[in-house]
Amino acid sequence: MDTHIIEEGLVKIEVPDFEKVSAKAPVFYNPVMEMNRDISVVVINQYRKLVDHDISICDAFGGTGIRGARYSKEIQGVNHVVVGDVNPLAVEIARSNMELNDISNVEVEKNDANILLQSNKGLFDVVDIDPFGTPAMFLQSTAANIRPGGLICISATDTSALCGTYHDPCLRKYGAEPQKTEYCHENGIRILAASMARNLAVNQKYLHILFSHSTEHYMRIYAIVKRGGKKTNQSLDNIGFIAHCPECLHRETIHGYAPSIPENCPICGAKYNVAGPLWLGDIGDKEFLEGMINMAESLKLNKKDDLLKLFHKCYDEAEGPITFYDIHKICKNLKISSPKINDVIDEIAKRGYFISRTHFKLTGMRTDMPLEELKQLILDVKEEKLGNDA
Ligand SMILES: C[S@@+](CC[C@H](N)C(=O)[O-])C[C@H]1O[C@@H](n2cnc3c(N)ncnc32)[C@H](O)[C@@H]1O
Ligand SMILES: [Zn+2]
Repeated sequence: MDTHIIEEGLVKIEVPDFEKVSAKAPVFYNPVMEMNRDISVVVINQYRKLVDHDISICDAFGGTGIRGARYSKEIQGVNHVVVGDVNPLAVEIARSNMELNDISNVEVEKNDANILLQSNKGLFDVVDIDPFGTPAMFLQSTAANIRPGGLICISATDTSALCGTYHDPCLRKYGAEPQKTEYCHENGIRILAASMARNLAVNQKYLHILFSHSTEHYMRIYAIVKRGGKKTNQSLDNIGFIAHCPECLHRETIHGYAPSIPENCPICGAKYNVAGPLWLGDIGDKEFLEGMINMAESLKLNKKDDLLKLFHKCYDEAEGPITFYDIHKICKNLKISSPKINDVIDEIAKRGYFISRTHFKLTGMRTDMPLEELKQLILDVKEEKLGNDA
């Protein structure tokens, strides 16, 4: 295998030569995921700062070992990292990458992630699940082997299933009905989170999401896990459904596993489309995000500017209502061209509603203004600013 050395964060990593990123490469390495790895370094550092004790990490899909190496070098107070991969070539290159960086607290093991997680190594403080495609079949062993108080970091690249482009795979993997709406990426994160919550609940554990995002071809959720039967039961109240009207774009949330869901939109009478079960609780923690922003400022990260932009957007939209509106979609519905989104946002803010942009979509607006009022406001802004199109 021909290789070359790249530098990322504070480590040098030997990676296979490649022309095109592919799961068929002898050992997988994707330079585009550098920001994803930078973000993980920030989140785990901030988590470690809050728990205030040394931590163990399991990177169950190690590839070249780049995450394990970076976690060891760039996160304060990491006492032990276990890196696993089923590919023997990955294990070989990951071991030599630890030597290349003089790292002695990372153990690299050839193993299937489910077996590695259950192999009596004790419970982990942090479990990182970064598979090809869906993490669905690894959720139960993660849920069982994360220490109460621990942090789960989970990636999913099967966004076409989570977002409803492919309906049946979402049913199979997540037991959920997806929906192809303008906010389908948010729904995707909520479907994955609900699946995590259900797997945790089996172990009397529940989650608190610190940060989640959908970027390019992947989604990622960072969540603290806690234990307790009663609180787990209460946490399941966050599971429910989103009913969406494809005609007028009205939507409503319905909590519960088997709730009664209205069939028709109360505004226009059209038949609702329903997505779920999904997580209707928070998908970001504003205070933790503030800590992440400060933490990122203090670290050496190549993708710092990009990740700070993302963190700020997520900070702004945290604590906003569930789902957002797409100004283009509303304007299409109103049969007008879009006014400037910032003019609309300023008007919404003037009326005292929650309003933010969203990291999910450039043309998205997260607001609790009732849709009918929002439509009228957009029409009014458009009238006053004719000729000033977005
Ligand atoms: C997306 S890559 C991981 C990339 C790596 N985390 C990084 O940031 O560069 C997925 C890795 O999981 C490995 N893999 C696939 N199925 C696995 C399984 N069931 N258990 C453990 N590793 C697996 C693959 O060999 C591949 O190296
Ligand atoms: Zn309607």
